[in-house]
Amino acid sequence: MERPTILLAVGRDADAHTDALRRAGFEPLLFDAADPSAAPAADLGVIDCDLAPEVVGPLYAHLHNGTATPTLLLVGGETNLPESIGGAGDEVALKPLPPDALVYRLQALLIRTGRHLPVESGAWASEEGLSGAPIAGEGHVVSVFAPKGGVGKTTISVNMAVALRQQTRAEVLLFDADVGVGNVTSVLDVPYRMGLADLADSPPEEWTDAAFEQVVSQHPDSGVKVLTWGTDPAESERVSVDLLLAAMRWARNHHSYVIVDNHPGYDDRTMAMLAVSNEIFLVVTPEVGALRNSSQFLELARELGLINGIRVVVNRANHGIRVQDMASSLGLPISATVVSNGPKAVIASNEGKPVVLKFPREKLADDLHAVARLVTEPDLAPQAATQRSTRRWWSRIGARASEA
Ligand SMILES: Nc1ncnc2c1ncn2[C@@H]1O[C@H](COP(=O)(O)OP(=O)(O)OP(=O)(O)O)[C@@H](O)[C@H]1O
Ligand SMILES: [Mg+2]
Repeated sequence: MERPTILLAVGRDADAHTDALRRAGFEPLLFDAADPSAAPAADLGVIDCDLAPEVVGPLYAHLHNGTATPTLLLVGGETNLPESIGGAGDEVALKPLPPDALVYRLQALLIRTGRHLPVESGAWASEEGLSGAPIAGEGHVVSVFAPKGGVGKTTISVNMAVALRQQTRAEVLLFDADVGVGNVTSVLDVPYRMGLADLADSPPEEWTDAAFEQVVSQHPDSGVKVLTWGTDPAESERVSVDLLLAAMRWARNHHSYVIVDNHPGYDDRTMAMLAVSNEIFLVVTPEVGALRNSSQFLELARELGLINGIRVVVNRANHGIRVQDMASSLGLPISATVVSNGPKAVIASNEGKPVVLKFPREKLADDLHAVARLVTEPDLAPQAATQRSTRRWWSRIGARASEA
């Protein structure tokens, strides 16, 4: 079995990038501009668009000769991209792109283009081990994230998943990726079966549809499916990035919406989850600390090219810093606000019931439904956020130009 190949031209930092790619199970191949015709075919391409036109042009042409190889185009503030470079299957990332970020972007590109992920052994997962379901029309993945703990990620994830199910009747999966800490199943009462930790000892070839289906439970009242990392913190180290990404691939293939409750931090697992999400709902509370942490995250998201999919949701919005001030401090519009209602939130969570089912008439439930509608009715979101949700490559360049 072969590793997925990446044909790249990244200039001076090539060693750091190729080392990181190898560690992640990719096979990097360097492009030799002296002899473009000898370049091999590859699964993905990476081009630093500031390299000489004699490198960029022939490499791009090589990668788009016949079939279009999905290509990550690295650009800086001054990059002048020729008209002939960039197409629907390509993505743009802002430089400098650290090696780890390159890995995340390529993993995301693989998943978005419906390709197989490299697995732990560094090989492709075997054909039989992967879902036979059509990849086209993949599920829409929303990561709920905050760099700070306790701001309401789990509350919003659980209620958004149930609200989405109520609004659409579609297949919704709630994915607890707060490995080691998160416990969605104590807030949402589901018949617990197993978690991803129970698959950690199996070789990646055994991470089949049937295996993932075995670890999923269903919330009886709403029909939302729930996939958790497990329950025993001692086992959390065994849940690898590869296993999470394999679970995500399965999740996308079998559900219309995947809502991910993330860990509040910048560990590899969380960054991988964020990188493969279509949208990131950044939960912020109206406090200086949360705002500062969120600004730092937005900086990082800009560096990693994740900024376009971010929407800001203010939780407990009726206390503390004003919503308009938060928007100007973060430099992004506020897409939704959720009112604070401690008593109702606590009663619902103690009973293992989502607020939207337990207290459907409360403003808290209305607000949580509105968060879900950002997914089902994106046109209702503030204008800048709507533009951000497009993933077409030229919109990224537009975003870069407007930031410059
Ligand atoms: N809008 C709200 N009004 C009142 N209480 C809330 C609201 N949102 C969340 N809470 C409560 O705040 C506490 C923390 O919420 P939650 O567990 O959802 O946060 P979290 O970001 O997932 O935390 P962690 O980082 O620990 O996973 C819970 O007790 C929850 O019931
Ligand atoms: Mg949580």
